[in-house]
Amino acid sequence: MKAIAVTPGIPNSVHLQDIPDPTLGEIPDGKGVLVKTLKVGVDATDREINEALYGNPPPGDKHLVIGHECFGVVTAVGPNVSGLKPGDYVTATVRRPGGSIYDVIGTYDMTSEETYYERGINLRHGFMTEAFVDHEDYIVRVPSGLKHLHVLMEPMSCAAKAVHQAFEAQRRMRVWRPRVAYVLGAGQIGLLTTLALRLRGLQVYTLARGAAPNLKSEIATGFEAQYVSTAETSIADLVKQSGRPDLVVDATGSSRLAFEAMTAVGHNGVVVWTSITGGKQQIEIPSDMINIQWVLGNKLLLGSVNANREHFEMGIRDLAMGEMMFPGVAERILTNPVDGLDQYHEMMRLLVEDRDALKVFVNVGQE
Ligand code: BGC
Ligand code: ZN
Repeated sequence: MKAIAVTPGIPNSVHLQDIPDPTLGEIPDGKGVLVKTLKVGVDATDREINEALYGNPPPGDKHLVIGHECFGVVTAVGPNVSGLKPGDYVTATVRRPGGSIYDVIGTYDMTSEETYYERGINLRHGFMTEAFVDHEDYIVRVPSGLKHLHVLMEPMSCAAKAVHQAFEAQRRMRVWRPRVAYVLGAGQIGLLTTLALRLRGLQVYTLARGAAPNLKSEIATGFEAQYVSTAETSIADLVKQSGRPDLVVDATGSSRLAFEAMTAVGHNGVVVWTSITGGKQQIEIPSDMINIQWVLGNKLLLGSVNANREHFEMGIRDLAMGEMMFPGVAERILTNPVDGLDQYHEMMRLLVEDRDALKVFVNVGQE
């Protein structure tokens, strides 16, 4: 069976790899689910893995099969699977549990261990193959009415977690009625976070470099958010217009902007960081100013990584609700299909070189 893999540690090692077919017998308690892969999305994490900045192979292997944003159809289930059947559309969570209490209760995205296991990223093979098998605990059903949004399930789960974590953390306020949110970055996470926040009734400003109109601005305004080009309006100027936001979610992939977000948020507000920055950039920040403002304003900084099953379910509900409120908008994120695993060079080329490719994904198989 074909798979797209890299050799972690070696830059630009992306290649086609022959791997054994998966079998239900790999999951010992009879709760295995065999999935035929239909589509797999790629993102900046895959780019960094191919640049050898990030990611590790499973113990004993030199290669890592990539792919963590999957969409497929169930083809067979083990005898003890109760909630899924052949023909169901599904996606899969990315993390697999370690041994901490958080892992044991299903919140493996909050593991307290240094080592984490992520399919397609760290120490576990991914989904960029013709078929895969996993335990039913990690397979999440996708309603057939959302089939057209396929590979958005995983990025949406990360957006759903970021927003949910902010609301959970803000219970410290006893009453928190956020009115204004800034979303920094209009990549897939920024846009999907915009959707999640609009569905909760916030006034959302989605900030990105490009001057409007462009695809990102059209998607943001399609979700009835305000799109702001940072080439025209700085964050500081926007604060003068909108007042300080109650919530800022950074999804830029730039640690400089993640810190700049800290200068904008209002009293009792929260900044959520969602980007993985694999580089080594160092910047200077107005640390005294931030320090005093954060203490006097009881502000909170929250990191949010990955997502567990509940966040996938939340994200899927939000995508369904989004289709009711803003029909046809979310699918505009899915810009660049690549046909077949053999086209892995084209997949990486789009990911690395094409600035307009909002979402690259591979059509792996047909139903
Ligand atoms: C993935 C997350 C993962 C993170 C860190 C992201 O690209 O979408 O699931 O936790 O990278 O590895
Ligand atoms: Zn990702």
